[in-house]
Amino acid sequence: MRAIIIPLIIGTVCLGADFVKLERLNLNKARQGWGAPQLGRSVIGRPLRVGGEEFKSGVGTHASGVILVELNGECERFRAKVGVDDETDGKGSVRFKLVADGRRVFQTDVVCGGDKPVTVDVDLQGVERLALVVSDAGDGMAYDHADWCEAEFITGPGLIEVRDLPREEREILTPSPPGEPRINGPRLYGVRPGSPLLFKIPATGERPMEFAVRGLPEDLVVDTDTGIITGCIESDEHKTYKVELIAENRLGRDSREFSIVVGDRIALTPPMGWNSWYVHEHRVTDEVMRAAADAMVNSGLADHGFQYVSIDDCWMNAEAHSDPSRVGPLRDENGDILPNSNFPDMKAMTEYIHSKGLKAGIYTSPGSRTCAGFCGSYGHEAQDAKRFADWGFDLLKYDWCSYTRIAKDNSREELKKPYALMGRILRKQDRDILLNICQYGMGKVWEWGAEVGGNSWRTTGDLGWSFEDIPQAMFRIGFGQNGLEKWAGPGHWNDPDYLLLGYISNWRGGTAMTPLSPNEQYTHVTLWCLLSAPLFLSGDITRLDPFTLGLLTNDEVLAVNQDPLGRQARRVSKDGDLEVWAKEMEDGSRAVGLFNRGPVAEYVTVHWPDIGINGVRRVRDLWRCEDIGEFEGKFEAVLPRHGTKLIRVFDEKK
Ligand code: GLA
Repeated sequence: MRAIIIPLIIGTVCLGADFVKLERLNLNKARQGWGAPQLGRSVIGRPLRVGGEEFKSGVGTHASGVILVELNGECERFRAKVGVDDETDGKGSVRFKLVADGRRVFQTDVVCGGDKPVTVDVDLQGVERLALVVSDAGDGMAYDHADWCEAEFITGPGLIEVRDLPREEREILTPSPPGEPRINGPRLYGVRPGSPLLFKIPATGERPMEFAVRGLPEDLVVDTDTGIITGCIESDEHKTYKVELIAENRLGRDSREFSIVVGDRIALTPPMGWNSWYVHEHRVTDEVMRAAADAMVNSGLADHGFQYVSIDDCWMNAEAHSDPSRVGPLRDENGDILPNSNFPDMKAMTEYIHSKGLKAGIYTSPGSRTCAGFCGSYGHEAQDAKRFADWGFDLLKYDWCSYTRIAKDNSREELKKPYALMGRILRKQDRDILLNICQYGMGKVWEWGAEVGGNSWRTTGDLGWSFEDIPQAMFRIGFGQNGLEKWAGPGHWNDPDYLLLGYISNWRGGTAMTPLSPNEQYTHVTLWCLLSAPLFLSGDITRLDPFTLGLLTNDEVLAVNQDPLGRQARRVSKDGDLEVWAKEMEDGSRAVGLFNRGPVAEYVTVHWPDIGINGVRRVRDLWRCEDIGEFEGKFEAVLPRHGTKLIRVFDEKK
């Protein structure tokens, strides 16, 4: 082979080239986590040196990085020696990977500072596009100085060019619902004997629509115009009423079997709703909550099963606060907790929410102060719970916060104590109040959350703690739920925090569009549905654009979350950045999420034995709501950067 020295060419390489060094390409379109690619030097401009060996040529980069090279099927091989530059003094750890037309053709183990260079030599015949990828190996990108030493292409006469990474379009995959009635949402509803029942039949389709319920117990009534079912089953008998929900308009009719399960358990499917925290923080008011209830109905979210409208922190008084309207006495002369001046009439507010067929949620802390420094419930637990019930609330988020100062230590007993107390107290109220335990996963709360009366429990710290880090946090928290599946089930759910979609707080006094990219948003919703997580939007519900609405209103996707069997998905395979998660559905089908956590498009495959099946299966694309064919033994799809595909694999063999 002849080694031809190519004259300096910006952007492309001319005809007749045999060896093209990586540093000869225009690397302006390369992407990396810090700095810019350096030609013949490390990322901070020193001589390239890996594992004690010095290199005259190559490119110094920094994780996480991608160089996407258009080869036009003309290239024979790519060769390089890769590693972390010695200048980090042993720090830094990365992974190098090559992806050729969506297939991984090379990957190193985790390579650390001080390690010897790893030789790359891959056959690229026929490859159109090659991605040179450096990941941070999952531990952040500090000191990840990644060198591609002596990197060169052995190529034919075509042009080689570095390309921009593809733009992520905000593509709306969810088809618009038809004008004919379609009943959505959960297929069952748990209520305790003697507690008021409130359920608005979620249905899409043209209005006016007429609702009816066949077989409705006589204590209950349905409003035929709104589809709101109310009443109270007084008998102590535990019993399941199988009823038929019916919706009819000028275009057609739909009906669906629905179970009203009178017994001990509530939250038989993961609760769905909206929470004020991530958009309104300490700015929440009565008007904000009423507007949220209006929006839940007007945006159509209620037609897809969203039901809870929940106030988070800051509805009470504080002793001192930057907003004087939130400062005042914490309790009245009877010791009853006082809402701040932004909430003139709590009961009227919950009545307003209930009048729309929706439910109301409230927040407090077992400590004497909430996380934002407002009045908490310590020493007033029973009194506060009674007040919340009298006001008409249906959900309580109980947030640990300052209870740290009360707990003797971090023992499981101490961690359980405040929740067990509130769990017992809530059961004594004359209405069903869901208990959302919030203590960030301490003491493996999933192992005992149900035992103390929790209907859901946060498994981690706050997903949106830092606006810029939300994408990373969503991946870390979402994919970190594996192994918790055995603790979730009807009535008690793992809660990885809210859906951060649409406009959310930027923590600088304003709001901004979620920093999650479009693909990441699909991943967020897909994963939360598979995880049977409570689905609470915490973005601005009054400003939902069509893309965000599409993410929240796909009934086939939501049905994965609301499946009556109540299984939480587990990870069935992991191959580097590629993961497959699956959950069993009540009808015997499997809901399967394919995920590409990597920075460039790759094929992801689910093998039927990994999800306990075999043979030829019908596969449906849930986001697009369409069958995509029959597949034998496996299904694979090329997924874009941070992208997902959610499929349902049916049990029947065709
Ligand atoms: C904690 C919780 C959040 C939110 C805030 C309110 O950080 O984890 O979900 O409720 O407190 O102060």
